[in-house]
Amino acid sequence: MSQTHFGYETVDEAAKAGKVKGVFDSVASKYDVMNDLMSLGLHRAWKAYAVAVAYLRPGDQVLDIAGGTGDLARAFAQRVGPAGRVVLTDINEAMLRTGRDRLLDQGLALPTTICDAESLPFKTGSFDLVSVAFGLRNMTHKELALAEMARVLRPGGRLLVLEFSKVAPALQKPYDWYSFKLLPRLGQWVAGDAESYRYLAESIRMHPDQATLRAMMKAAGFGHVDVHNLSAGLVALHVGIKC
Ligand SMILES: C[S@@+](CC[C@H](N)C(=O)[O-])C[C@H]1O[C@@H](n2cnc3c(N)ncnc32)[C@H](O)[C@@H]1O
Repeated sequence: MSQTHFGYETVDEAAKAGKVKGVFDSVASKYDVMNDLMSLGLHRAWKAYAVAVAYLRPGDQVLDIAGGTGDLARAFAQRVGPAGRVVLTDINEAMLRTGRDRLLDQGLALPTTICDAESLPFKTGSFDLVSVAFGLRNMTHKELALAEMARVLRPGGRLLVLEFSKVAPALQKPYDWYSFKLLPRLGQWVAGDAESYRYLAESIRMHPDQATLRAMMKAAGFGHVDVHNLSAGLVALHVGIKC
């Protein structure tokens, strides 16, 4: 059986999705508060940047993959208006349930579907924009997921991949200290779970860097890919055009 990474651990491919599920089952109820705490609110600015770069128009059809608690989906829905459609999806029921409840509390009812990014239950060419924020890192077969994202986009449609990336060398040491010393303690203190936040730090280190992800997107069918480094490369937004 083929092997893959779960953070720094080497595991059978078949085991990874279950382990990732364990992480998000565990953190779902504290996910939003932890996001604000561990990024000092920066995740809001990264997402706002992605929404600005999406250049959505009223009536656009949008698919948010690994959408979790729905930050991007909510912002997209405001832009596409009642003539458009934003579908919120995730593989994890606990995350999606938390997100759907939160959006309903805010008066927003979006079509919501549990699905695996590696096998999307949507027709070929059915979306103008596909997004995946902080989700690709957790997927077992990233090439397969990117190919599925390309498939469901119409020709000329765009994929936004917002993900942790390779930070500038000058920040590497303090970032490592933060990630491996402080973050698991914060996870233990707020969410009662140090391990899931240790996985977060490790999975970021194992994720393809900016240039590698750009090449993967090109191989998946995105003829043009732009890379936007945010916060000195802590996060990168890759924008691919299907052509
Ligand atoms: C860190 S959360 C990101 C949530 C949200 N997009 C955000 O930016 O706040 C990562 C999400 O990826 C989802 N995920 C992991 N593997 C997936 C897969 N194969 N298909 C779809 N979603 C997946 C997890 O369930 C989790 O909700």
